[in-house]
Amino acid sequence: MSAHDGPAAPMTAHAAGPLTGEAQVPGDKSVSHRALILGALSVGETRITGLLEGQDVLDTATAMRAFGAEVTQHEPGSWSVHGVGTGGFAEPAQVIDCGNSGTGVRLIMGAMGTSPITATFTGDASLRLRPMARITDPLALFGAAAHGRSGGRLPMTVVGARAPVPVQYTTPMPSAQVKSAVLLAGLNAPGETVVTEREATRDHTERMLAGFGAEIETETTNEGRVIRLTGQPELRAQTLTVPRDPSSAAFPVCAALIVPGSEVLVPNIGLNPTRAGLFETLREMGADLTYENPRDEGGEPVADLRARFSPDMRGISVPPERAASMIDEYPILSVVAANAAGRTEMRGVAELRVKESDRIDAMAQGLRACGVTVEEGPDWWIVEGRGPGEVPGGATVAARLDHRIAMSFLIAGFAAKSPVTVDDATPIATSFPIFTDMMTALGARLERDPT
Ligand code: S3P
Repeated sequence: MSAHDGPAAPMTAHAAGPLTGEAQVPGDKSVSHRALILGALSVGETRITGLLEGQDVLDTATAMRAFGAEVTQHEPGSWSVHGVGTGGFAEPAQVIDCGNSGTGVRLIMGAMGTSPITATFTGDASLRLRPMARITDPLALFGAAAHGRSGGRLPMTVVGARAPVPVQYTTPMPSAQVKSAVLLAGLNAPGETVVTEREATRDHTERMLAGFGAEIETETTNEGRVIRLTGQPELRAQTLTVPRDPSSAAFPVCAALIVPGSEVLVPNIGLNPTRAGLFETLREMGADLTYENPRDEGGEPVADLRARFSPDMRGISVPPERAASMIDEYPILSVVAANAAGRTEMRGVAELRVKESDRIDAMAQGLRACGVTVEEGPDWWIVEGRGPGEVPGGATVAARLDHRIAMSFLIAGFAAKSPVTVDDATPIATSFPIFTDMMTALGARLERDPT
């Protein structure tokens, strides 16, 4: 079951403010998926605290049970996984429904693609539109086969390789999901699997594989990052604390920057350079955003973020080489850009078109409905800033089964002249189930519309 099978729940954001206080954002979605999957592939009991209990991650937990792991919630955020060992996945007796989660389905396909089992995957209407050939193409090199709908779409059956061979693969697009799927497949192939990525993408899989005891090395060369993994390790169960999600922190941070008088502290946010591009961009735009108490936790840089209302922000040209480190943050950046002076140019972002929705189109159409001028091309878009508090709003926009689109437009509503309604706020539960309560506690005004 996905969270999106129920009726739509419209929600309206009104101007209010100031936003003040602390925002305790939930655990990192990327790290949570990987903790469950690697726990399921290791021997012994992995203990996880701070797990994100969003629907995407819960769907991955359910999937890991279907492949034979024992996955238990002890108390909120505190979970254990009894794994089956590398290559130990059982054949699921039911279809694996990954709901809204591209990360879930793609990483799981990789993890099972070199085991002698067959599994059928599906998801919600958004996930069934997303490209899967980017995973099944490299899986075919390992010896796996896949049969899906035309265009490489879900529902899709993956027949794992009976006698997997290791591969050398260069990812054709900057994608941590593709890189991770190949590495997870490489776990059950004898010998060395090598993945090269031209641009660095989030490296949680590499870090976590090393933590679980895999032999894995990363080298930066002229070709990009080259990752070498020795197959068939015995992964040892770990005790893990999931850092808080910088992609979720982005929402209260950006809200504070655009709502007059605000000051919000967002403690304990991971600032892994492969994830922190948004915060750098905001600072270049003139945001009053400070990193307090910078420290290292579990090998990752962490800080408390303090964001204050920033009426002097200016649009910038976001360096395209920064895209991978902020790929999920362009929707909320475009809302900040609309409230800044001047143009914000975002280039080299073709991947935005194949996320939970076509995020360039979703934001461009919604922002235009709110009175903002947006130009767009295949891999770029430009937002004409209207200045602080100058976005007209007063529109109902489509969330398109995309949590980040829904949250971005609600935040737009906090700073707009007239309220902004999203037609369906239920997708927010995939990554940030406490979003509405948290924003309300900070002083925001959100209303569930009667349906
Ligand atoms: C993710 C990678 C990114 C990102 C997604 C999470 C991950 O996707 O957009 O939200 O956890 O590996 P791509 O790999 O498609 O860029």
